[in-house]
Amino acid sequence: MKQQILLTGGAGYIGSNTALELLNSGYEPVIVDNFSNSDETLDPRLDGVTVYKVDVTDRAALSAVFDKHDFHAVINFAGLKAVAVSVEQPLDYYENNLGGLITTLRVMEAHNVTRFVFSSSATVYDPAASLPYTETSATGHCNSPYGWTKYFAERIILDYAAAHPLFTATLLRYFNPIKGAIAEKPRGVPNNIYPYIRQVHEGLRDKLIVFGNDYPTRDGTCVRDYIDCTEIAKRHIAPLETEKPGAYIKNIGTGTGTTVLELIRQYEQENNCTIPYEFGPRRAGDIAECYC
Ligand code: NAD
Ligand code: WQD
Repeated sequence: MKQQILLTGGAGYIGSNTALELLNSGYEPVIVDNFSNSDETLDPRLDGVTVYKVDVTDRAALSAVFDKHDFHAVINFAGLKAVAVSVEQPLDYYENNLGGLITTLRVMEAHNVTRFVFSSSATVYDPAASLPYTETSATGHCNSPYGWTKYFAERIILDYAAAHPLFTATLLRYFNPIKGAIAEKPRGVPNNIYPYIRQVHEGLRDKLIVFGNDYPTRDGTCVRDYIDCTEIAKRHIAPLETEKPGAYIKNIGTGTGTTVLELIRQYEQENNCTIPYEFGPRRAGDIAECYC
């Protein structure tokens, strides 16, 4: 029988790419999502996958899903992720991202599910830490409530794992996801650069505004570690088979920094197009460089 893997938030961008990768690797993904940031109609390649419309903060509803399955592991993608919105509505972010995490761990505990993978983020690294960021680099001084939800979530998971010696927790700190077999379909104006560039290419937007060209980098624009979402998805497989219980932390990046202008040029070459852009002011909260 195929091993069943619960993906909370599995209808979203990284979750749906991971569901596809799990199918390709012989697992049976099961998706729980409240569709607050995704469509109820999934990519056709996920036809046949069991999907529940459930909010992970609803303990009874989540518990009912666990009653119907025998989960080998849970991958926690469920969360709100708009950095700027988190500054305006911090309680929504803490309530959803941390409340949902605690409820999920409670339900796992009640059902004796002992393997957990968590979508963390490069945003947990202290911007003052030296580059490249490694798993032992300092964390904290996050620049938004969103970032702090990831920081506190990691703490909660590490404390839970320490108290449960049979538990296996893997914290995956993603850098900047782009592309993927299933493209991101953001609602409204994209917050992230890659879907914005794609919308310029598709004619939905006139031009990209490059946020700042006076950073101390090789061309004055910010440097990030952009990683293909299909590669991110693949890196969720190994933690499902880790043999020794305990807590593991892993960066999920390429190890190469790319400037905004280099990213635009790469996109233009790969898609044989021109992306019009203009320089604008720096965006509040951006750091000059981030790569692992
Ligand atoms: P996404 O918004 O596309 O997917 C998240 C999914 O979670 C959505 O389908 C949403 O409807 C669902 N969700 C939110 N709250 C829920 C709740 N209470 N109950 C059930 N479902 C809920 O985001 P993504 O880019 O796929 O990110 C997945 C995870 O990875 C998130 O936790 C995010 O914070 C983290 N992450 C993302 C990035 C990135 O740049 N995309 C980088 C680092 C970490
Ligand atoms: C990348 C670069 C912008 C839009 C965010 C979160 C982080 C993580 C990944 C979840 C920056 C520049 C952007 C635009 C631009 N998410 N840019 N014009 O800010 O590195 O990371 O997503 O954990 O926590 O903060 O990603 O894609 O928003 O920006 O010039 O219209 O593109 O200034 O240098 P970021 P991003």
